[in-house]
Amino acid sequence: MASNRTGQTPATLDQLVVRCMDCGRDYPGDQAITRCPACGGLLDAIIPLDRTLTPQDFIDPAAVPGLTSGVWRYRALLPTFPNDAIVTRYEGNTPLYWSERLANYAGLTGGRFGAKHEGHNPTGSFKDRGMTVALTHAKAIGASVVACASTGNTSASLASYAATAGIPAIVLIPEGKVSASKLGQTVALGARVVQVEGDFDDALAILRELTVTHNVYLANSVNPYRPEGQKTIVFELLEQLGWRAPDVIALPGGNLGNTAAFGKALSEAYAVGLIDRVPRLVTVQAEGAAPFAAYYDSGFDHYAPVHAETIASAIKIGNPASVERARRSIQTTGGIVTAVPDTDLLDAKAVIDAAGIGAEPASAASLAGVRKLVREGHISADATVVGVLTANILKDTDAIARYHLGDEPGERANRPVRIPAEMAALEKVLDDALHA
Ligand code: F0G
Repeated sequence: MASNRTGQTPATLDQLVVRCMDCGRDYPGDQAITRCPACGGLLDAIIPLDRTLTPQDFIDPAAVPGLTSGVWRYRALLPTFPNDAIVTRYEGNTPLYWSERLANYAGLTGGRFGAKHEGHNPTGSFKDRGMTVALTHAKAIGASVVACASTGNTSASLASYAATAGIPAIVLIPEGKVSASKLGQTVALGARVVQVEGDFDDALAILRELTVTHNVYLANSVNPYRPEGQKTIVFELLEQLGWRAPDVIALPGGNLGNTAAFGKALSEAYAVGLIDRVPRLVTVQAEGAAPFAAYYDSGFDHYAPVHAETIASAIKIGNPASVERARRSIQTTGGIVTAVPDTDLLDAKAVIDAAGIGAEPASAASLAGVRKLVREGHISADATVVGVLTANILKDTDAIARYHLGDEPGERANRPVRIPAEMAALEKVLDDALHA
């Protein structure tokens, strides 16, 4: 067998191993398990770390014809699959926008704010990075049907990747609580959509029950392969920084799969010598859906699910499935968990949007949270911060209409002006614009 650039022989599926984060038992990774059969704990995919890697160990996308994915070029730190098994839509390779406007808004007077824009993925959210790995695994092990519960982005991503893999997909969404854009996207991409009379937490609970008794491949982030793909957000942003770690990486927290993945990525990048220090992870929740922030405030002593209420429907989750993996991420990075009110979240979104960048409401939690923590003195004003924008501006146009056009517009609303079809009226608009 030929060696690849990291000197490993190409993997067969029997090299895949998952480990329970609670009891430490190992299991073969060529099956569809998402909980430890012995103790019920969450499972991690095991990546060999007893080696040193350099940036050259990541594949130059141009060097692998047809495989320009911003996920799979980091395969030296991913579970390895044969090239021809990979289910990809050429995800990743997302931009990092340094923005003075966002830095000023956050209060980073001597610092910098970079927006890592995951809305530039094929279906418009970071979920595609996890889904390419999950569907590659699902297809490789012969899954006959894949399923997820979702607040809208996971469902759109699963629909797309399942269609690419040729596997039927079932998605459960909380009825009436998903934006019209995401529901439409998921339906159009061909998944069977089930509207559950309940919230996200109810939907995920019944689906997890179903996957225990039926042969259904669960594609939520409790699946150990999903976070593996999402780790590459961190690898890619570190690479964009020349492998110099920023001071802080901030991200929104809902079901906490991403927080789990980011901590794992940072530990692994540090273990193999790609970075010489680990940045602090900052997870930001919406105040009405902040069980993880409350857990953090208790010194990770007391966890209690909540009934979630927030305008940011993507992160309207009261009992996050990856809470313990996320705790580990915060603890190993000296991180912080905080929560912001919906008004702050929407104002931060308006700032991101008007800076020409744009993102969906949940994504703005990154900026709103950093602003709060700079004010409180937990992040220094001269810090280099990367905030992850998890999805694009068109994911929730209902929220945009409410904020800018609604009966109770937001503080930074940009209301259209209405004029008669007359030149003089238009001249007045021009005059106002020039003198604004
Ligand atoms: N931002 C967006 C845009 C999301 O869609 C989600 C989660 C998050 C942040 C939170 O990420 O769950 O890893 O903490 N959306 C899931 C979904 C729940 O079903 O689309 P997390």
